[in-house]
Amino acid sequence: SMVIKNVCCIGAGYVGGSSCSVLAWKCPDIHVHVVDVSHDTIKQWNSHNLPIYEPGLDEVVKECRGCNLFFSNDIDRAVREADMIFISVNTPTKTYGIGKGKAADLQYVEVCARKIAEVANGPKIVVEKSTVPIQAAQFITHILAANTKPGVSFQVLSNPEFLAEGTAIENLVNPDRVLIGGEESSGGESAMEELTWIYHHWIPQHNIITLSTWSSQLTKLASNAFLAQRVSSINAISAVCEAIGADVSQVADAVGRDSRIGSKFLHASVGFGGSCFEKDLLSLVYIAESLNLPEVARYWQHVNDINHYQRTRFGQRITASLFNTVTDKALAVFGFAFKKNTGDTRESPARCICSQLLEEGARINIYDPKVERQQIMNDLTSTKATSEPERIQKLIHIYTDPYQAVIDTHAIVILTEWDEFKSYDYKKMLSVMKKPAFLFDGRKIIDHEAVIKLGFNTHTIGKKFTPNTL
Ligand code: NAI
Repeated sequence: SMVIKNVCCIGAGYVGGSSCSVLAWKCPDIHVHVVDVSHDTIKQWNSHNLPIYEPGLDEVVKECRGCNLFFSNDIDRAVREADMIFISVNTPTKTYGIGKGKAADLQYVEVCARKIAEVANGPKIVVEKSTVPIQAAQFITHILAANTKPGVSFQVLSNPEFLAEGTAIENLVNPDRVLIGGEESSGGESAMEELTWIYHHWIPQHNIITLSTWSSQLTKLASNAFLAQRVSSINAISAVCEAIGADVSQVADAVGRDSRIGSKFLHASVGFGGSCFEKDLLSLVYIAESLNLPEVARYWQHVNDINHYQRTRFGQRITASLFNTVTDKALAVFGFAFKKNTGDTRESPARCICSQLLEEGARINIYDPKVERQQIMNDLTSTKATSEPERIQKLIHIYTDPYQAVIDTHAIVILTEWDEFKSYDYKKMLSVMKKPAFLFDGRKIIDHEAVIKLGFNTHTIGKKFTPNTL
């Protein structure tokens, strides 16, 4: 068996960057080289201002960078020197051609496989870490096998990543489980042992699961689908609560007390976001359709449909509550990231709800503790978001102080569950707002009774309050 001394990772995004930083930190005996095609991204990884925000990441990178952790654009060299190559490139939903809007786009993964085939000069273990449809390891194996040279051999493993943004370092240091999928052959088994050896540096054996590549890849899609399904289940119940006067928090608490169900991931909200849940649900739907399993496809499709319904429903409720028009009214939006403790806005419910309000002609003042101004502008004025970027741009104002953002607004709209939103002085905010003042809590994080007492007309998901007398 070979001993892994050099690891390289292609793709320095959320997954590649944070997982390899932790790997380097936990394995001082391994040289870790993270590479990317993007010069900007690599420059940032080598600076004080990392390209992604994750609690704890700065410290890990500071400790290892330049010792056994390196970031560069020299993909050829990194691949040549590595015994083991992780592929952590993006696998977005296809926006064109066959499977458009559903299937995962494997073009970047394929480019990596061809690059590895081209420059490899010895035996390599290729580890698929990107989330991919269930045939991807077979594709990679096929491309590599068709390009072997003397002295060069490949083993392909599946090692899907389960980190969640906002808690990535904690999840990587202390994962519930690590999956290592491989071929059932002696070559496959020894490659699996090599990767297991790496994870053994910090993860106990009972949390490392070895399985077939098919099972491994499907487990990743199934896990995200199950998590998304819980969110959509409680959100579907939240609509019933609003209609009949029940309180979804009470229902969720009581339902979650059943030990077979459990209490996690039962928080009603404006819905899930992020780069993975929707993409992986749609990928699963596409796989089911391709396998001629339409009932299965419909089941998972509906989990995603409920998520869209929930966002739209909340946007409509804002407009309806503001006397059926938000045209020319200023609204303060708190939170733009798809969840707290991240600056990531991919598929953020806030993007969708802001776009909805902007289409109605609302002026929106946005405050988010971590998302950059330019990111918010791009997200709301891209061709995907609007057909009238100039008109929309004039309606958006971005603030770095929430107390400034609320001046002369009709409403506060909470769209991300940042902790700091809980401790604001809402009395002070109310005093500078237009009256009647409204508060829409799309994340159910603040003390509703308290803000109602202050005089806010308060709305939240899955609960109706008796209206304040205007
Ligand atoms: P990302 O978009 O943040 O990073 C991908 C990086 O790969 C980019 O920096 C891009 O420039 C680079 N890249 C693309 N093609 C390349 C090539 N041919 N050579 C070198 N670099 C290349 O994506 P992220 O979020 O890290 O996701 C990566 C994969 O991990 C996806 O399949 C995703 O589904 C999966 N995943 C993501 C999680 C998340 O929370 N973001 C969690 C678990 C899995």
